[in-house]
Amino acid sequence: MVRVLFVCLGNICRSPLAEGVFRFLVDQVGLGDRIEVDSAGTGGWHVGEPPDPRSVETARRHGLDISHQRARRLTRADLDRFDYVVAMDGSNLSAIRALARGDHRARVLRLLDACPDLGVRDVPDPYYGDGDGFERVWRLVYRGCEALLARIRREHAL
Ligand code: 4NP
Repeated sequence: MVRVLFVCLGNICRSPLAEGVFRFLVDQVGLGDRIEVDSAGTGGWHVGEPPDPRSVETARRHGLDISHQRARRLTRADLDRFDYVVAMDGSNLSAIRALARGDHRARVLRLLDACPDLGVRDVPDPYYGDGDGFERVWRLVYRGCEALLARIRREHAL
């Protein structure tokens, strides 16, 4: 089993979309029993909550239901349990590295590292915006997830 964990700040806007998109792409190529997908937040303010309604609506518009997801906080143990811990932005990456403090099993990367040609490194935090940001988040997340899945399939001969 290859385990992939998407991480943002609150685990209610960006990483739930990434979890939903990545699972959709994994299922589409029949790898649902080989790749496990989850998400978490570096902050704990929204633990136990469903995704932000704007993320739920964005996913629904594109045909995915993410409303069953519940926010949880990233733990130190996640960094050994998962093979890939995938940050949405540089600030998430710093928070993950601070929690790791040294040795861990997971490869820690930024989602958009998987598609350098985009010329964008961060999936921007849409939480305080007027909602327009969520469509851009969807597009970046989708592109990142496609590229990440291709990379993981290469690395694990899947
Ligand atoms: P996310 O967005 O990291 O994409 O889930 C945020 C959600 C909540 C907060 C910040 C960002 N917050 O400050 O509560």
